[in-house]
Amino acid sequence: MDRIRIRGGRALNGSIPISGAKNAGLPLMAAALLTDQPLTLTNAPDLADIATMSGLLRQHGLSLEHDKTARTITMSGAATNLEAPYDLVRKMRASILVLGPLLARYGQARVSLPGGCAIGTRPVDLHLKGLEQMGAEINLEAGYIDAKAPKGGLKGAKIYFNQVSVGATENLLIAATLADGVTELVNAAREPEITDLAHCLIAMGAKIEGVGTDRLRIEGVSSLHAATHPVVPDRIEAGTFACAAAITGGSVLLEGAKLEHLGAVIRVLREAGVAVEQEEGGLRVSRLNGLHGVDVMTEPFPGFATDMQAQFMALMAVAEGASMITETIFENRFMHVPELNRMGANINAHGSSAIVRGVKKLSGAPVMATDLRASVSLIIAGLAAGGETIVNRVYHLDRGYERIEQKLSAVGADIERIPG
Ligand code: UD1
Repeated sequence: MDRIRIRGGRALNGSIPISGAKNAGLPLMAAALLTDQPLTLTNAPDLADIATMSGLLRQHGLSLEHDKTARTITMSGAATNLEAPYDLVRKMRASILVLGPLLARYGQARVSLPGGCAIGTRPVDLHLKGLEQMGAEINLEAGYIDAKAPKGGLKGAKIYFNQVSVGATENLLIAATLADGVTELVNAAREPEITDLAHCLIAMGAKIEGVGTDRLRIEGVSSLHAATHPVVPDRIEAGTFACAAAITGGSVLLEGAKLEHLGAVIRVLREAGVAVEQEEGGLRVSRLNGLHGVDVMTEPFPGFATDMQAQFMALMAVAEGASMITETIFENRFMHVPELNRMGANINAHGSSAIVRGVKKLSGAPVMATDLRASVSLIIAGLAAGGETIVNRVYHLDRGYERIEQKLSAVGADIERIPG
């Protein structure tokens, strides 16, 4: 298994191109199941999770061309197999996103239950309840979701979410585009990736109102058609590199990053003493003075993203004063705490909150983490630590960060991948 070696202490300076967002790419790819005609995504990231979704769509029967140089993915053709098998769904929870489009277009689907995962139980009840409200009959059997649409297809419905869910909003939004009648999604998630998905569906012929709000109104149409759509830049990748630049006391231009997608993260970074400015071509993040501890609570968009919690905690580990970090979206999302403490951080997690008491300096160590954002927080810590840090289990990073060691070494980090 590959590892990443970092020798810390170098300030990052230069420009980092931000890739297309993983969390936008995955639902956009699932939307290709809504039509036989080609759906082309431009600015597509080259990531392990995107390859997993490609494998899933191929085994459903779609044709896929991924041109990594041109950064495009084209999907076309009809699904000939309506089952998403355990082996693929187990690898990536977002596989559940094929359920809505398969059911809407083909009237049935069999999708493995994703099961637990490292950052909490993560159920899919909201996805299933919403589809049932649209008339689907759902049975859970032998670890699979067996779903059937009523005769004549899914029916429009008014669906209130009792909890904000990105995945459930996406699944139901996609399904509703081909349903009979009007669907309203109330208390819907409004992450930029959902807005991106809605824009792509509209380009395919869907009728959607309320884009960007927590109330989506979808008028079903009988069919959708070909489209070409650019994947939105990855705000979490941008936020991650912002923390990396800040912890090293450098100045980096995040090419293509959008201010409006990073609102809460930028507010908190500024409060902590980091300068963030919009420039032509992207966002510049610089730190000249010391960092201060700031309290943060994760929330659905436009709040502070749970996917930025671990990276911000690494930054706070070397800030002056204390920071209280509260995780409200997932239980058990503090797996980076013991690893950061092994690098000399002083973090005390209790329940859903962690108190981070800033230390003067971290020290390099061999570390590993059990999820994507936890792993990258250890890279951020390693960039500022004295000595050498070895991050094990790099496959977590490859799920969501494209060529991370190349992007960081291009701005001055001493970082390399050790194949193994
Ligand atoms: C997506 C993102 C993930 C991010 C998360 C929250 C993708 C591929 N992944 O995950 O990176 O961390 O949003 O911003 O886009 N829940 C239920 N029942 C359900 C669905 C969710 O109780 O049916 C709960 C979850 O356990 C969690 C909360 O709702 O506590 C939010 O989860 P959700 O927004 O659905 O996350 P994902 O879509 O899985």
